Amino acid sequence: MAVDSRDRCWCCVCAVRERFGSYEIYEELGAGGLASVHLARSPAIKNPVALKRLYPHVAEVRELVAAFIDEARLARYLRHPGIARVYEFGRTKGTYFIAFEFVPGPTLQQLQRQCAAYVGRIPVPVVLEIGYQLCDALEHAHGLRDEHGQPLGIVHRDVSPSNVIVSSSGQVKLIDFGLAKTKQSTVQSQAGIIKGKVNYIAPEYISGRLDARCDLWAVGVVLHELLTGKRLFHDPENLATLERVLSLPIPAPSHTNPDVPGDLDRIVLAALERDPAKRWQSAGAMRTALQHHESRRLTHQQLVVWMEWAFSQRQQPLRVEQTGVSALYEIIESTQIEAVGELPALSEATEQRRRQSVAHMPAYGAATAQRRAARRQTLGWIALLVVAVLVAIGVAVVVALARGRL
Ligand SMILES: Nc1ncnc2c1ncn2[C@@H]1O[C@H](COP(=O)(O)OP(=O)(O)O)[C@@H](O)[C@H]1O
Ligand SMILES: [Mg+2]
Repeated sequence: MAVDSRDRCWCCVCAVRERFGSYEIYEELGAGGLASVHLARSPAIKNPVALKRLYPHVAEVRELVAAFIDEARLARYLRHPGIARVYEFGRTKGTYFIAFEFVPGPTLQQLQRQCAAYVGRIPVPVVLEIGYQLCDALEHAHGLRDEHGQPLGIVHRDVSPSNVIVSSSGQVKLIDFGLAKTKQSTVQSQAGIIKGKVNYIAPEYISGRLDARCDLWAVGVVLHELLTGKRLFHDPENLATLERVLSLPIPAPSHTNPDVPGDLDRIVLAALERDPAKRWQSAGAMRTALQHHESRRLTHQQLVVWMEWAFSQRQQPLRVEQTGVSALYEIIESTQIEAVGELPALSEATEQRRRQSVAHMPAYGAATAQRRAARRQTLGWIALLVVAVLVAIGVAVVVALARGRL
């Protein structure tokens, strides 16, 4: 069925699928066991949103609804550039929804897949920047207090690659506080039930002990995997994964990736201490260690340009292990030399990407190529026009001269 042009979204790419209360729903951004997430717009909210809606059958289960409401309640406190903010929470058409700030950009999971297929290793400075920003967001969440100054005791419980988005402005955003636990959570986990993805679960949580340090373990697993390009504990069987979490000897990331310096090995391995007392004791402490690491020298702009480059790769690299790394060093050199000249172009590129959805985001770089082609075409037309004007003047002069002579 043809779609009326008014039924298209702001980016002119995706058609309106349905209306949900005041929201126009566009394409799906993600779908989990309990809820779906769609790109959406409401006249009441200036920016596009990521609308998370409980599936109608889930909205009938009181415990799950209570957990969803907890996520929305918690969001009131979460005000940090590294955490997707919440615009609205409500109930429509028999189900509950939360409207989050839409973060344009790929998740770390998409980045891992793209790099595994076309880019090779993610450069150390890129991983450091991601780790630093992730710890910064967690430091905020872990340290929050309620209106009476009492610590909320937030633990995200699901820090994992699909819950971290690298936005098109270079800001790393933590999403999905759906499993987050606070001291005041309405929903208490049933004994023996572990929440979160088994690959990223801290060993002590398997026996029921949970605090903010569990999230730092998860950050350690994420950084280890980004640095090595390999899953750390993964096994097709969940039980075997949990066994590995408990007992697999953890190799230093440099064992697989010789680019990783020894002190970064130590930062990551300190997050992966099985005894929480020996682990980083706070996200702030880990963030500071990553912040002062000598290889951390990327600006947000350089991170974005590298991401754009990485997602524009469509062919198997010749030397898998080096491609992404050498591209980054070229980017650092060129952005350092042309920092001032490059900025307007970048903000234009960022603006362009803002109009794209996550589904289009893996085409990072295609937008730039398109813009360049359009610019080349415009220059071509201008040159043609100039030539035509010159030819016309030439002809007029010749005619005038000929008439004069006559
Ligand atoms: N604020 C957002 N901006 C952009 N994409 C989002 C946003 N929130 C979620 N998504 C996309 O939807 C997926 C699922 O959302 P999430 O909140 O993690 O739900 P679930 O509980 O199903 O894991 C994410 O992995 C991401 O791809
Ligand atoms: Mg999720």
